[in-house]
Amino acid sequence: MKNLIIRKILRKIEKFFYPSPIFVVDEYIKWLSYANAGMLNPGNIYIFDYVIKNLKSNFPIIEIGSFCGLSTNVINYFVLKYKKKNLLITCDEWEFENMKDKFVGNSNISFKQYKEFIKDSFKRNVYFFSKTKLPLTIQKNSDDFFGLWAKNIKIKDVFGRDVLLGGKISFCYIDGNHSYEFTKRDFENVDKFLEKGGFILFDDSADGVSFGCAKLARELCQNKRYSLVIKNPNYLFQKNL
Ligand SMILES: C[S@@+](CC[C@H](N)C(=O)[O-])C[C@H]1O[C@@H](n2cnc3c(N)ncnc32)[C@H](O)[C@@H]1O
Repeated sequence: MKNLIIRKILRKIEKFFYPSPIFVVDEYIKWLSYANAGMLNPGNIYIFDYVIKNLKSNFPIIEIGSFCGLSTNVINYFVLKYKKKNLLITCDEWEFENMKDKFVGNSNISFKQYKEFIKDSFKRNVYFFSKTKLPLTIQKNSDDFFGLWAKNIKIKDVFGRDVLLGGKISFCYIDGNHSYEFTKRDFENVDKFLEKGGFILFDDSADGVSFGCAKLARELCQNKRYSLVIKNPNYLFQKNL
């Protein structure tokens, strides 16, 4: 009996510090997630919905790290749902962390082939699910992408369209390299262009997660220019007005 009471109290304390994430129930996203491979934390869907609904301007939305396009398609879905005019611009070089060997595990598939397969999957998935407002996708890592962004460079995207980079940003979803050094640089680059009232979401930043991006998100809570607006369980920040 005593043990049961203690367990109940512990569960309440745990719930207080780690409340359950809010999950969006949406028929379209359910079917999209069946077909489109990806690594999207379901809690991020609620955050995307919130951010897109509350965008402060028509400045572009940036996604760092698209993989097979699942988060790209979900973000784009909310852009269309809320009839927003913001362009969605994504970047990925399809260079994965932890590619230690030439081959994928014990298979005869090389990582070079795997990369091509993922890029093709991205194009196919995005072309199928986001055809009505196809995102602009630049095959660059985020450092190079922001280098070009700062210089207002015109570049071809993976679908062969001209894209003029540069200007202010309304929202950035950071889901590329998860190490502290990379995420910090991503944040610093985004910060240069993010409008006041703009949003940044760090993937894998939830409490208890050991990635460097989680450490950075915790540090950002002390930054007076940003406010933590949602933890679901990943951290969403807004630049103060
Ligand atoms: C966790 S996956 C992204 C998952 C994706 N957002 C989804 O919904 O499934 C990380 C992606 O980031 C990309 N990436 C890794 N380092 C990067 C960097 N420095 N800049 C841009 N993308 C990067 C990888 O190629 C990979 O596709």
